[in-house]
Amino acid sequence: MKKIFETSRRKFMKTVGLSALVSAASGSGAIAMGQSSGPSGKGYDFDEVYPRINSRKWEGAYNTYGRDNIDVAMGTADLDFKQVPAVVRALKERVEYENYGYEATPDSFYQAIIDWNKDRYDQTIKKEWIKTSSALKPGMVSSMRGLNPVKGKVILLTPTYSGFRGAINKAGMTVVMSPMKRVNDRWAFDLEDLESKLDYETKCVVLCNPNNPTGEFWGADEMRALGDICIKHGVTVLSDEIHCDFPNKGSKFIPYASLGEKYANSSITYRSPSKTFGHACLRVAYFFTQNEDLMNATMAGGGHEQGVNTFGVLAAETAFREGAEWIDDLNIYLDESFDYIDEFVNRSGEMPGVKFSKPDGLYLAWFDCNGLKEKVASPEQVRALHDKWRDEGNHRPVTPEMCMQEWIARNVRIHILPGSSYGIGAEGFMRMNIGVSRTMVKMAMENWNKALKTLG
Ligand SMILES: Cc1ncc(COP(=O)(O)O)c(C=O)c1O
Repeated sequence: MKKIFETSRRKFMKTVGLSALVSAASGSGAIAMGQSSGPSGKGYDFDEVYPRINSRKWEGAYNTYGRDNIDVAMGTADLDFKQVPAVVRALKERVEYENYGYEATPDSFYQAIIDWNKDRYDQTIKKEWIKTSSALKPGMVSSMRGLNPVKGKVILLTPTYSGFRGAINKAGMTVVMSPMKRVNDRWAFDLEDLESKLDYETKCVVLCNPNNPTGEFWGADEMRALGDICIKHGVTVLSDEIHCDFPNKGSKFIPYASLGEKYANSSITYRSPSKTFGHACLRVAYFFTQNEDLMNATMAGGGHEQGVNTFGVLAAETAFREGAEWIDDLNIYLDESFDYIDEFVNRSGEMPGVKFSKPDGLYLAWFDCNGLKEKVASPEQVRALHDKWRDEGNHRPVTPEMCMQEWIARNVRIHILPGSSYGIGAEGFMRMNIGVSRTMVKMAMENWNKALKTLG
C-alpha cells in the first residue's frame, strides 16, 4: 500500500513541476501556502497533496486521457484531503475487533445526526423521522417510486446535479426539466415555467439545496415561493441537502424543512456525511420527513437499501461528534481557494473567454466559458469530434461543452466536467471541483490561462 502512495506522490511532484510549486509557495496570488492549519489550531493540513487510491475521479480521467496526460482530476465531487483524525482512530479500533457480522444501527448514530443538525442549523429532527440508505440517491429513488404514478414525471430545476436524471430513470419515471433563469450572476427558479409543467402525472420536484453545480444557497423567500406552488399542486419537494455543510463566508444554509410547518409536511430531506467528510465509499446516507405518509410511500418505493455499512455508521457518528472544527477549517480553506480563482479570473487580461462569479459555497467552481466555446467548440469542431469518436467506436453524443472538456484536458491537462451534464440552461458552462490542495488549484488555473492565451 505504501508503495502506491509513494509512486503517486512522486508522479505528482514530477508533473506539477518545480515552477508551479514555487509560484504556489511564494504566494504569487492573494493566498500564500503554509496557512492551512486553520483557525481551530488543530493543524489540519489541507495543502498536503494526499494521493488517492483507486479514486473514481482520478482513475476516470486517467482512463480517458492517459495517466501521463492529466495533472489534476477535478471532476466527480469528492475531496482529496486527509480524513478527520478522530474518524481514522475510531475505524482502526473497530477493525481490530474481529467480527464484522450483521449489526444493528446504534441509537447513538441517530443522536449524532440529531445533534449535528440542531447545533449547526437549529433544526429539530426526531429519531423516528429518520431512515438510512447506502447513499443519497437510493433514498430518493424510493421516494420517486412511492410517490409518483407509474411512469410519472419528476421535475428538475436545471442546471442541477447530473445524477438526478439517472435516479429518475431508475425509478421508472420521466425527467422534466424546468430551466432556471440567470438574474444578476445568480440562478433563480422560473416559477412560471415550473407551474406550467405541474400536471396530474407530476408528484415530485427535486430541489438541490444548495445547488450543485451553480452554488446557490437558496434563500427562504425563493424556496417558500417554490414550495407554495408545489403545495398548491399537491407536489412533494424532494430536498437534496448533501452539500449543505459547505457555506462560504457570509452564506447561511437554510434547510427546506425549516421554512415552516406546511413546507416540512410536504417535503422529504436527503442528507449524507459523504460530501461533508469525504465518506462516499463508506456508504451511509439518511433521509427524513415529519410526514408519516410520505415516509410510508418512500418505504413502499423500496429501493433505498436501508442496510448501512458498519464502518460508515461509525465514521459518520464520529465525524458528526468530532469533525466540526475540521469542516469549519476546510470551509475557510475552500473559501480562500474561491477567492484566489475569483481574483485570478477577474484580473484584467487573464483567462480570456472565461467568466466566474464566486458561489455561496460548495467546492465546485462554475465557469461561464461561452467565450471559449466560440473558439474551440464551434459547430464544425463539435462535428469533427463526433466523427472522431464515432470512428473510434465511441457513440456518446457530443455537446459543445464536451468539446471544450476535451480541449481543456488536452491543452491544460486537467479534467473538468461539461455543463451539458447538468441539463438545460448550462450551455457554455464548465464545472471544476476545487476540493484539492491549493497548489493544484493554482496550477490548474495558471495552465488554463496560458492555454487560453495561445488561442489569441
Ligand atoms: C447534489 C448531489 N446529490 C447526490 C449526490 C450523490 O450522492 P450519493 O453518492 O450519496 O448517492 C451528489 C454527488 O455528487 C450530489 O452532488
